[in-house]
Amino acid sequence: MGVVQEKSVITVELPQNPYDVVIAPGGLDHLGAWILDHGKQRKLGKKMLLVSNPSVFDLYGQRAIASLEQAGFDVAYHLIPDGEPHKTLASVEGIYDAAYAHRMERSSAIVALGGGIIGDMSGFAAATWLRGIQFIQVPTSLLAMVDASIGGKTGVNHPLGKNLIGAFHQPRLVLIDPQMLDTLPVREFRAGMAEVIKYGVIWDADLFEQLDATADLSEYAAVPVSLLQTILLRSCQAKAIVVSKDEKEAGLRAILNYGHTIGHAIESITGYTAVTHGEAVAMGMVAAGEIAVQLGMWSKALSDRQTALIRKAGLPAHSPAGLDHDQLVTLLQADKKVEDGKVRFILPTGIGTVEIVNEVSADVVRHVLRQIEA
Ligand code: GLY
Repeated sequence: MGVVQEKSVITVELPQNPYDVVIAPGGLDHLGAWILDHGKQRKLGKKMLLVSNPSVFDLYGQRAIASLEQAGFDVAYHLIPDGEPHKTLASVEGIYDAAYAHRMERSSAIVALGGGIIGDMSGFAAATWLRGIQFIQVPTSLLAMVDASIGGKTGVNHPLGKNLIGAFHQPRLVLIDPQMLDTLPVREFRAGMAEVIKYGVIWDADLFEQLDATADLSEYAAVPVSLLQTILLRSCQAKAIVVSKDEKEAGLRAILNYGHTIGHAIESITGYTAVTHGEAVAMGMVAAGEIAVQLGMWSKALSDRQTALIRKAGLPAHSPAGLDHDQLVTLLQADKKVEDGKVRFILPTGIGTVEIVNEVSADVVRHVLRQIEA
């Protein structure tokens, strides 16, 4: 077993299902032992189904399985091809087939080894197989580490929209091994950095300042190891606190959607392929910042600081060329976060503070879209 130099544990304090997020470089080799150590209040059987995609499995699958077997688990694995087009009910049926073949029981668990897509699908399969079995998140992308793996949102896409089918199902344990970021494609690293910047703006002014004071945030190799540990810790702490206070997104949790209102619309218009989720969120944060400036809630100076940070992370601060503004405004009305027909924006009021604003006129949105055009 490899040596772990630093192990941080954050607890997501949910009354029914509290669970730990463990951040530890080299932690992958301790996966099996830590599954046993954490979440002891839930009875766990021996059967485990590891779900991954071929590229992640090639890199880390055997180490994960070895660690699980060393801890006494009986492990089968199931691979799903990489990418958003595979985030479907049909792929989840493949997980069910593997669970059936492995004779999984109520006390069995699914281990998700991969990015947000693998985590969301595995979690949904775990939420529904035998009316709910346990699952463990081992996120391998920065975005999944700081956002998707924590909080229990699971699901798949419907042909008419992203993540329209899903369930809240909290994991037993989230294990984050930052060393796995070493093999993450640079564009994916940047996508995750968009969510990290998000936490700085909506929740953690000190994190924002630390990011601001760093010369280069655009790739794994450029970020000092100690800062990376801080980034993961502070981001996961922010997410854990928000989820603990509002598990089912009745109020506060909506602030995690900062940058996502316009971001989702851009992703949808560009077909979920041209722009990564993180890039769309980056553009959405720039737009939200400028909307807040228009509404007198935020200063132009702070909005410019946010834009500079986004650029420093190698992320786009302009909307894609040729974006159809009418289509975007129409799409905003169809977003699943619309309530009573009102588009909800999360808008900054400082560094580390935001407000949920339900009425932003289409005129202001159009004005800002013109402003941030490439
Ligand atoms: N990614 C937003 C949330 O988990 O609520």
